[in-house]
Amino acid sequence: METILITGGAGFIGSNFISYLFNETDFQGNVVNVDKLTYAGNLENLSHIVNDYPDRYRFEHVDICDRKQLDRIVEQYKIDIVCHFAAESHVDRSIVSPDAFIQTNIIGTYQLLECVKAHKEHVRLFHHVSTDEVYGSLHDQGYFTEETPYKPNSPYSASKASSDHLVRAYRKTYGLPITISNCSNNYGPYQFPEKLIPLMILNAIEGKSLPVYGDGQHIRDWLYVTDHCRAIWMILKARPIGKTYNIGGRCEKKNIDVVMAICNLIDHLMPMSEYKRKELINWVTDRPGHDRRYAIDCSRIEAELGWKPQESFESGIEKTIHWYLDHMEWVNRVRSGEYMAWIRQHYGH
Ligand code: NAD
Ligand code: DAU
Repeated sequence: METILITGGAGFIGSNFISYLFNETDFQGNVVNVDKLTYAGNLENLSHIVNDYPDRYRFEHVDICDRKQLDRIVEQYKIDIVCHFAAESHVDRSIVSPDAFIQTNIIGTYQLLECVKAHKEHVRLFHHVSTDEVYGSLHDQGYFTEETPYKPNSPYSASKASSDHLVRAYRKTYGLPITISNCSNNYGPYQFPEKLIPLMILNAIEGKSLPVYGDGQHIRDWLYVTDHCRAIWMILKARPIGKTYNIGGRCEKKNIDVVMAICNLIDHLMPMSEYKRKELINWVTDRPGHDRRYAIDCSRIEAELGWKPQESFESGIEKTIHWYLDHMEWVNRVRSGEYMAWIRQHYGH
C-alpha cells in the first residue's frame, strides 16, 4: 500500500488534491498531510476526509523547514511518494514582505530534498508543484513551453524558480527521482480570498469595491483546480522521472474580462435594483513589476499523458461562484481568523 506525503495539504490546491485523490481516483493508499497552518492553511477544508477516511489520512502540524520532523515523518510512515505543494503563494505579499517566501519556498524545498536524499531507498518519487510565473512575462504572441528560459519577476516567482532549480539539480547531482509541474492560475473552491477570483466574487456579493490593478489588460491563463489535481495525479501515476510538464487551461483572459464576467453572473444570481456590480470596479495603482501576460503551451502533458482540461471558464466560474455563495460561513471564519479556534477545538492544537 502506497503512502503519499503531501506538503501544504491544508491550502487551496493541496486540500482540493487530497479530496480528489480520495473521492475521484482509484488510489487505495494512505496520505500524510504536512502543513504549518499559515494564514492560508485551513484544516476545515479536509474535515470530510477526516470523517470518511480516518484510517488512511493523517495530519502532521509541521514546518517543512524543520528537517528533524521531516525525517521522523518519512521514517515513521515509510513514505513512498512526496508531493510538494507547501509554499507562500501570493505575489502581493511577496512584494511587501519576501522573507517567508525565501524561507518556505527555497529553504523548505531544500530541506525536503535533503530528507528525500537521506531516504532514497524507499522514496520513489518527489513531485514538485510549481508555477508558470518562473518564466516571467509574455508579450502579445507566444506561449510558455517547458524549454522557455526562466525569468522570474517577483520575489514569489524568483523563490519558486530557485526551488525548481534545486529540484532539478538534486536529480542531476544525486539521482533523486523527481518530476516538476509548472501550472497557470488556478481557481475554484477553498481559494483564500486574497487572490483575484475569490476576492472579486466576495466583494461583488457584498457590494464592496472591486480593485483592478493598472489598466486591467493583464492576461492570465485560467484553470479550474480539479483539472490541475487530475494532471498531478496523472504525473504521480506515470512517474516520468526527470520530466517537467507545463499545465494550463488554454484559457487566456484579460483581468477586466474576468471581473466583468463575475459581475454579470452575480447580477444575474442576486440582482440589485440600485446598481450593477460593474459600477463597483475601482481602478487602482498597478502591482510593481506586474507580469503582462501568461499563456501555457500544455501540448507535452496532453500528448504524453493524455491530460486535457475538462472544465471551461464559463462552467468553472459559475461553479466557483455557487461554491462561495454556499460557503459564506467558511469565508467568514477564514476572514476573521476564527478558523484557528476551530482547528484548536477539533484537533487540540
Ligand atoms: P496556498 O497559499 O493556498 O496554500 C499553501 C499551503 O502551504 C498552506 O496550507 C500553508 O499553511 C502551507 N505552508 C506554507 N508554508 C509552509 C511551511 N513552511 N511548512 C509547511 N506548510 C506550509 O497555496 P496554493 O494556491 O494552494 O498553492 C499550492 C502550490 O501550488 C504552491 O507551491 C504554489 O506555488 C503552486 N501553484 C499555485 C497556483 C495558483 O494559482 N494558486 C498555480 C500554480 C502553482
Ligand atoms: O500563474 C500562477 C500563479 O497564479 C500562482 O503561482 C500564484 O500562486 C497565484 O497567486 C497566481 O498569481 P497571480 O499574481 O497571477 O494571481 P492573483 O490572483 O494575485 O492576480 C491575478 C491577476 O489579477 C494579476 O494580473 C493581478 C490582478 N489583480 C489581483 C488582485 C488580487 C487585480 O487586478 N486586483 C486584485 O485585487
